[in-house]
Amino acid sequence: EKEHQEKTKVKNIQGVELGRHEMDTWYYSPYPEPYASCHKLFLCEYTLKYFRKKKTLLRHLAKCTLRHPAGDEIYRSPPPPANDPTVVGGAVTNPPISMFEVDGKKSKVYCQNLCLLSKLFLDHKTLYYDVDPFLFYVLCEKDAQGYHIVGYFSKEKNSAEGNNLACILTLPPYQRKGYGRFLIAFSYELSKKEGRVGSPERPLSDLGAVSYRSYWTREILDVLREHKASLSIKDISDKTAIRTDDVVKTLESLSLIKYWKGDHIISVTQKIVEEHLKTIATQKNIEIDLNRLHWAPYR
Ligand code: ACO
Repeated sequence: EKEHQEKTKVKNIQGVELGRHEMDTWYYSPYPEPYASCHKLFLCEYTLKYFRKKKTLLRHLAKCTLRHPAGDEIYRSPPPPANDPTVVGGAVTNPPISMFEVDGKKSKVYCQNLCLLSKLFLDHKTLYYDVDPFLFYVLCEKDAQGYHIVGYFSKEKNSAEGNNLACILTLPPYQRKGYGRFLIAFSYELSKKEGRVGSPERPLSDLGAVSYRSYWTREILDVLREHKASLSIKDISDKTAIRTDDVVKTLESLSLIKYWKGDHIISVTQKIVEEHLKTIATQKNIEIDLNRLHWAPYR
């Protein structure tokens, strides 16, 4: 009922300014009054505090010393390779990125502000104020000015359903560059460190479903390629931390599964795996260097 009421609310805030970006919003978000009736909000990109006037934001920024999200930096991308003399004009490298872990209980206001911002681009999530039970993994691009928020995912500290991700967002200016995939991959790396399988909270949005399907497909095909010996659904799940029902669904969508006397049988040759991998070779893939992930499961 509450969800329905939220959904049918009319979009209020039409745009936000965040750092050097101006974004058009997609959905309603329950910013409190008087901010809710503003056409546009101005946000501090480090604290995610919101203002009605640019002037007030600038006054805040003059005093605000924070240059990164509140929380611990748990991942930093490796430095770019040393100058390669064979590359003329310089290769295109990804900007340096970092991941911060923010505890909803310790940094309540920051996390609430993050939820309010992300609701502007999500139509069905209803978490805004009760952030205590969640951890937030905030992805940033780094430059000389500071750490600029790109996107995030949230994760329940203790998920009864075994979810390894509650909510995921890449801010519009950063979409379609592989960051969504990076966030999803990161959520599964955390699950591997916990020694468990995981799955995203349902329902998925259309964009969420596309991104997960793409991630699962790639991961499963890679495992099938690496292990020439026959693998069971459980083997694939153990290696990827992808829950077995998600593995089955993905294999079904690729027509790589058969049923025999009530059992799933993976029916695949290396040639078929290679062919599928070829068709998805264009995926943008920002690697996670596991040596640079400093993280222990929540206790
Ligand atoms: N149209 C078609 N395909 C798309 C689009 C699009 N607009 N956006 C992304 N994709 C595809 C990409 O092509 C890519 O597929 P590929 O690897 O096979 O080429 C895949 O989705 C992932 O692309 P990324 O660039 O890694 O993802 P991105 O950074 O754009 O983030 C995300 C994806 C997080 C879903 C983003 O679209 C978003 O924030 N959307 C709004 C919020 C949302 O819907 N979140 C998910 C809710 S469900 C949940 O939270 C559990």
